[in-house]
Amino acid sequence: MINTQNHPRRHEEKIPAGKRVAFCRCWQSAAFPHCDGTHRKLSDQTGDALGPVVVTAVPAAEEEKPGE
Ligand code: FES
Repeated sequence: MINTQNHPRRHEEKIPAGKRVAFCRCWQSAAFPHCDGTHRKLSDQTGDALGPVVVTAVPAAEEEKPGE
């Protein structure tokens, strides 16, 4: 799937610690850049395994350090 809805190429968003946000990767969400579940319909239609990337913001002190 490609950007057929002409969504902006770039998005920046601050996510409060503890909040979980699902970002659309199928480009078809009506709430883009957030996932609205449209990927499920597309997956049924195409057989592709589409889905969002889900980000959970954590306080800086809880971030995992590389190698730990
Ligand atoms: S609507 Fe696009 S990934 Fe969910």
